[in-house]
Amino acid sequence: MKLKVLILPLLLLLAAGGTTTTTAHNITRILAKHPDFSTFNHYLTITHLAAEINRRRTITVCAVDNAAMNDLLSKRFSLYTIKNILSLHIFADYFGAKKLHQITKGSTTTSSLFQATGEATGTSGYVNITDMKGGKVGFSPVESDSDEPMATYVKSIEELPYNISVIQISHILTSPEAEAPTAAPTDLNVTSLMAKQGCKAFSDLITAQGDGDTFAQSLEGGLTVFCPSDDSLKSFMPRYKNLTADGKISLLLYHGVPVYNSLGMLRSSNGLMNTLATEGVNKFDFTVQNDGEDVKLETKVVTATIEGTLIDEDPLAVYKIDKVLLPRELFKVAQEAPAPKSAKSRAREETDAPGPASDDAVPADQNSSNGGWRIVRGGGIVALLFSLVLGVLLV
Ligand SMILES: *[C@@H]1O[C@H](CO)[C@@H](O)[C@H](O)[C@H]1NC(C)=O
Ligand SMILES: *[C@@H]1O[C@H](CO)[C@@H](O)[C@H](O)[C@H]1NC(C)=O
Ligand SMILES: *[C@@H]1O[C@H](CO)[C@@H](O)[C@H](O)[C@H]1NC(C)=O
Ligand SMILES: *[C@@H]1O[C@H](CO)[C@@H](O)[C@H](O)[C@H]1NC(C)=O
Ligand SMILES: *[C@@H]1O[C@H](CO)[C@@H](O)[C@H](O)[C@H]1NC(C)=O
Ligand SMILES: *[C@@H]1O[C@H](CO)[C@@H](O)[C@H](O)[C@H]1NC(C)=O
Repeated sequence: MKLKVLILPLLLLLAAGGTTTTTAHNITRILAKHPDFSTFNHYLTITHLAAEINRRRTITVCAVDNAAMNDLLSKRFSLYTIKNILSLHIFADYFGAKKLHQITKGSTTTSSLFQATGEATGTSGYVNITDMKGGKVGFSPVESDSDEPMATYVKSIEELPYNISVIQISHILTSPEAEAPTAAPTDLNVTSLMAKQGCKAFSDLITAQGDGDTFAQSLEGGLTVFCPSDDSLKSFMPRYKNLTADGKISLLLYHGVPVYNSLGMLRSSNGLMNTLATEGVNKFDFTVQNDGEDVKLETKVVTATIEGTLIDEDPLAVYKIDKVLLPRELFKVAQEAPAPKSAKSRAREETDAPGPASDDAVPADQNSSNGGWRIVRGGGIVALLFSLVLGVLLV
């Protein structure tokens, strides 16, 4: 019974998270007009929750004033714990002042962003909203065992129905789960995390090749890794073994992007992506292309699709993809699909191109100047790895 009640908001939340559109609202700007909420606003920004709020539609933010934030900060939690606690204040549903005072049957349970992060287990991450005597509205995390609500509604700050409602509540909402110490993503071991979550083959290659440090080193500034599934890597292994040592390093680094990209960010932007293998003129880039809810990565040689999320916690995101990404710098560019062409482009082609087979004939890596840079670049990576190891030894 209870479970059903809880599953529906979760589905709504997932749906809300999925439909990312460029919304008009900007929580930072909304709260900036109210100096009483400057601390709350600041923490939304540095925990990156502000970006998450702006990306979503149909959302309620329960802000607390600077005094209530000072109570929270006096407990000296890590930034990641503060992020979990503040996530409890963001609901994946729209509650304007009117709706809050007209809750059917006097009480409702709503899912917070804490539920969406995957940090919360069971019912943790859900908040009860209750209409109380005298027109008051109370808020309590579901697992709270107190009879009194943890916080009460104070006032509406801004309502843009039904995109975003920003309200003030009296106190911080918190729970033992939200306060539990969380490992900072920067303390995570990317290779062992991938190995444990279905990308063992890829993780093993990185470890064997000594690229692990490059991934670990990139983590602090933000990192997105696209790891090919074990199946896709298995069928690719003969071609991988055929690569030169430098080619192997480049291929592995090609699967890392030196900035954090949440799934929402990937879904809401198409375009070129630099990778850890990108260096100077050596592009080693690929294109992110959204296709409905799917996120596709196009390299001109192959198109891979994201099929799962291993972790998505700023500054680290790791996604599983269904194919190995093949950079055009190392592999033959795929033959153009014989798609219907406009008369104009057909005419151009007939004058320019001698035959349709020409696309597939020339491997990109036959370019002699490309061959030259690869050796130089490989040396750079090896030097980087050495300097990292030296750095560790000297510390
Ligand atoms: C939101 O507003 C803040 C302050 O005006 C600004 O710095 C920030 O770039 C805006 N964010 C977006 C996504 O427009
Ligand atoms: C929250 O609501 C559920 C369902 O109405 C109820 O069983 C639970 O006791 C409530 N918890 C709190 C803390 O109010
Ligand atoms: C809600 O968002 C939509 C889409 O971004 C926008 O067209 C609409 O004006 C917004 N509504 C309000 C009240 O701001
Ligand atoms: C990550 O874990 C692997 C195996 O568990 C280990 O070999 C490697 O040194 C670790 N890397 C870091 C950066 O701690
Ligand atoms: C390996 O490279 C050789 C020489 O370029 C080529 O003939 C062979 O087909 C390649 N094997 C695979 C599995 O790609
Ligand atoms: C080879 O690479 C150079 C420099 O990147 C480029 O200008 C040239 O067009 C390339 N040639 C071929 C045949 O791809």
